[in-house]
Amino acid sequence: MRRLLQPDRRRPGHGELPPPRGRHHGPPHADLGLGVVPRHRRHHGGSCVMRVNFTVNGRPQEADDVWEGESLLYVLRERLGLPGSKNACEQGECGSCTVRLDGVPVCSCLVAAGQVEGREVVTVEGLADYAKQRSCGTGACGTSPQDSHTGEGTELSPIQQAFIDAGAVQCGFCTPGLLVAADEMLERNPNPSDADIREALSGNLCRCTGYEKIMDAVRLAAARQGEAV
Ligand code: FES
Ligand code: FES
Repeated sequence: MRRLLQPDRRRPGHGELPPPRGRHHGPPHADLGLGVVPRHRRHHGGSCVMRVNFTVNGRPQEADDVWEGESLLYVLRERLGLPGSKNACEQGECGSCTVRLDGVPVCSCLVAAGQVEGREVVTVEGLADYAKQRSCGTGACGTSPQDSHTGEGTELSPIQQAFIDAGAVQCGFCTPGLLVAADEMLERNPNPSDADIREALSGNLCRCTGYEKIMDAVRLAAARQGEAV
């Protein structure tokens, strides 16, 4: 599939390093506000650590003793107990770690944890609740009785159900990232063309399905979304 060039993503199989950054170039991901780092820094055992406060799936979280080189993906999986976002390449190549940062899909392996201070993150665990809140407007459906933080016991989101119904899940390693990316695309584009779908998912690699069932799943979710309005 053709991949979309975005600041947090690189082409699959793209072997070249990006050009060197100019001396006066701004911080990476400046458009996402990722140049901001938390003030709570201290030195611990010779290295600089910090406390990071941010929101994950609607719940305030505090991660302590975060090393300044630690990725958002590591914090989500290892510190917050949210293993849904997968770690396959840690180089921004596969998209399996895709989460939403202030609504924008990013590769969480490429985002330094310190840069999410004060930001909102949605992971695949929170996708069902996120989609539900969206479909209900601003909380018109009330609060979900299940745990929207970990996703345990929650109903599946429409895109998750569509992936199951279309048989778009095989080993499942790529699935969380694809779900987050597809859900974001359907939020901003309820009637996507095949080209729109391919572009939205171009940063996500799947080694099993050949992508056709994934395309079917997103088409199905879009059709169901259209019927529901
Ligand atoms: S693990 Fe982040 S893009 Fe592959
Ligand atoms: S289902 Fe196995 S990598 Fe996509």
